[in-house]
Amino acid sequence: MKLTPESIRQHKNGTPLTMLTCYDAMTASILEDCGVDILLVGDSCANVFLGADTTRSITAERLAYHVEAVRNGAEKTHILADLDFTSSSSPEKALRGAKLLMEAGADSIKVEGFHPDILDALTQNKIPVCGHVGLLPQTAEAFRVHGRDNSEALKVIEEAAAVEAAGAFLMVAECIPSSLGRQLNQTLSIPLIGIGAGKETDGQVLVINDLLGITPKTAKFVRKYADLRSVIRNAVTEYIKDVREGGFPDESESYR
Ligand code: KIV
Repeated sequence: MKLTPESIRQHKNGTPLTMLTCYDAMTASILEDCGVDILLVGDSCANVFLGADTTRSITAERLAYHVEAVRNGAEKTHILADLDFTSSSSPEKALRGAKLLMEAGADSIKVEGFHPDILDALTQNKIPVCGHVGLLPQTAEAFRVHGRDNSEALKVIEEAAAVEAAGAFLMVAECIPSSLGRQLNQTLSIPLIGIGAGKETDGQVLVINDLLGITPKTAKFVRKYADLRSVIRNAVTEYIKDVREGGFPDESESYR
C-alpha cells in the first residue's frame, strides 16, 4: 500500500525507511516490486540523466516529465519530488513548480534549506513538504561534510528544527558526521532520512545509479550493491562482436 505523509511520520523510531532516487518508468517498476518505501525524483536527475555538473540546470517542467515516468512505472509507491533551484527563488515560483510536480504524480515535495515563505506557500496549499539539510547541492560552493565544527552543527540542527516547525513531515540530511546524524535524529520528531549521515537515522536514501555501480566516481557514503557498468560494458561488447561477426541474429531470433 502506498505510504502517505501520515504513515511515513509513524516510522519515527520504527522500521527504517528505504528511499532511492528514480527517474524512469522501468526502473520504477523494479524498485516498486522490491518494496522500496519512497521513490525520490531528485534534481540529481540533472547529473544522472543530463550529464550536467550541477543540479541547478534542471527545471520544474523537466522534473515533472520524470515524475510522470516514475508514476507510470510505480503506481503504488510514494513519490517525493525535488523542488528545482529556479522554483526555489520565490514563493510564487515554488508553488507553480510544486503544483507541476504534484499534477505529474508526486505525493510530496522536497525543499533544500530553510525558506520560510516557500514552506508556508506549500503547506498552506496542502502540499506535503520534506526538508533537506546539511550539504545542499543546489547552493553548496563545495561538496564537503557539513557540521564538523560546533557552530556549523548547531546551524544544521536549528535549520532542521525550523523546517519541521514550518510543517515538514520528513527530513533528509546529506553529508554530515554520524554523531550529528544521531543528534539530529533525536532532536526531530519527524523521521530523518540520511545520505552520508551515519546509521542512526530513521532511514536511508541513495542515488540509484550509485547503488547499481553505473556512476563512475561516487562519494564515500555510497555502497555499490552491483557493478552494472561492467555488466553493461560486457553485454554491449559481446553484441558488437556478434553483429560484426554475423553471430546475431540467429534462426531463433528471425521470422519465417
Ligand atoms: O536529488 C537527489 O538525488 C537528492 C538526494 C541526494 C537526497 O536530493
